[in-house]
Amino acid sequence: MKLQKVKKYTRIEEVSQQEIELLVSRVNNCSWRQTFHIQPVSGLLNDPNGFCFYAGEYHLFYQWHPLGPFHGLKYWYHTKSKDLVNWENVGIAIEPNSYFDSHGVYSGSAIEHDGKLYLFYTGNTRDEKLDRHPHQCIAVMDKEGTILKLNESVFDHVPEGYTEHFRDPKVWKEGEQFYAVIGAQTTDQTGCVGLLSSPDLFEWKFEGEVQTQLDDFGFMWECPDYFVLGDQGVLILSPQGVQPEGDRYQNIYQAGYVLGEEIDLQKKEMTHGNFEELDRGFDFYAPQTMEDPNGRRILVGWMGLPEVEYPSDVNGWAHCLTVPRELTVRHGKLRQTPIPELESLRKSKTEVSGSITNEVKTYDEFSGAAYELVCDFERGDAAIYGVEFRASGEEKTVIQYDATQKKVILDRTLSGEEVAIAYGTERKYQLDGEKIKFHLFVDSSSVEIFVNDGEAVFTSRIFPSAESKEIRFFATDGSVNFKAVKWDY
Ligand code: FRU
Repeated sequence: MKLQKVKKYTRIEEVSQQEIELLVSRVNNCSWRQTFHIQPVSGLLNDPNGFCFYAGEYHLFYQWHPLGPFHGLKYWYHTKSKDLVNWENVGIAIEPNSYFDSHGVYSGSAIEHDGKLYLFYTGNTRDEKLDRHPHQCIAVMDKEGTILKLNESVFDHVPEGYTEHFRDPKVWKEGEQFYAVIGAQTTDQTGCVGLLSSPDLFEWKFEGEVQTQLDDFGFMWECPDYFVLGDQGVLILSPQGVQPEGDRYQNIYQAGYVLGEEIDLQKKEMTHGNFEELDRGFDFYAPQTMEDPNGRRILVGWMGLPEVEYPSDVNGWAHCLTVPRELTVRHGKLRQTPIPELESLRKSKTEVSGSITNEVKTYDEFSGAAYELVCDFERGDAAIYGVEFRASGEEKTVIQYDATQKKVILDRTLSGEEVAIAYGTERKYQLDGEKIKFHLFVDSSSVEIFVNDGEAVFTSRIFPSAESKEIRFFATDGSVNFKAVKWDY
């Protein structure tokens, strides 16, 4: 069987070992392979699933289509780590091999109960007419890492008033009861979140829809997540079909949150503030969080989007996950900061400081393709200032502050191979401050930029040529003082 002929629902064992090795070697020859991000050995990765700490280790599963960079038959792939930084590929965790998940083991979450890890996911099935029939399913992992599927559906229907887009349960425990939020669509095609409850994880009941103040907010909400942070409820969702509004909602689909009171589980309602995007970059979707043993709320997102082609597709793979970020609440909003454990990746350190006036400056040692860079700018009279990175000749990715517009702007117009240009090549975030800090995590084909200690984050794939390694600091129409520290990875 030729891999080009792989159909959407081809199973991995239907393809010869030799074909798979060919695919993997094509993937490994790709110059955009990441160096410190979780990425698939071949094929396509999407949502993070089952993110948790269990039996002394962090576990992070993800949606995986092994046979090529498209959304075919999905498996759960398992990775684990002792420090949230160095991840070990464990292998396939859950395969689509039963009546209840015949067309894909879709997204879900994990919870520890009675010493075991329960993986709660949506089994995607399609009938002869290709109509979807979702089942909510369970697999159980023990401390040795053995995973057993319960080959039956623990919630086998779609409640009345909702369509077959009913998936991605995120489970938690409150008192003696288990709850799950689940992504849903009403029959009049609006996105919403459903609430399920269970006394034992095996029998689930539909409690109803969680009433929010987000009326008519897109046609489907995928991958909801719910947790309490401090004394506030946080509901994360990935709505589809929200129209652009000024600088907001520029990607094909969004991922964001509402913050407010805890969900009233009796009334099934949440009182909250505005919907805020979690990320202002080009490639971020379907994030999932977990609470670590120290009580930190940690988030990982899919650094990609549905229905978008990416340049690495030609090399047989697509997408990666973001670095883990800690969530905290500041001034009524979620703040995301890279977890301090990432500092263990730091090798040699280089520092520079000075002033830039109407010029583009480069410094010895300030170059690379995988590094961490912290730039502190003290606002002078420059109209625009910032950093060009992964640059050579005309090629560059630019993060800058436009003091006239009072906006942070990420520009990937000249970043290399184009991605989703129909959705524009700049992303902007309104920010007024005397000091601007850009904290960058640059890898072979991505950048994550934390602005002013996580007030905003820009997460993006970029596909520059391997030689584009220059870092340039610039200011136009005036001066700015700055300090930069870089750690090679
Ligand atoms: C989000 C999503 C989920 C679904 C999964 C399938 O990206 O569409 O709703 O469970 O991906 O891979």
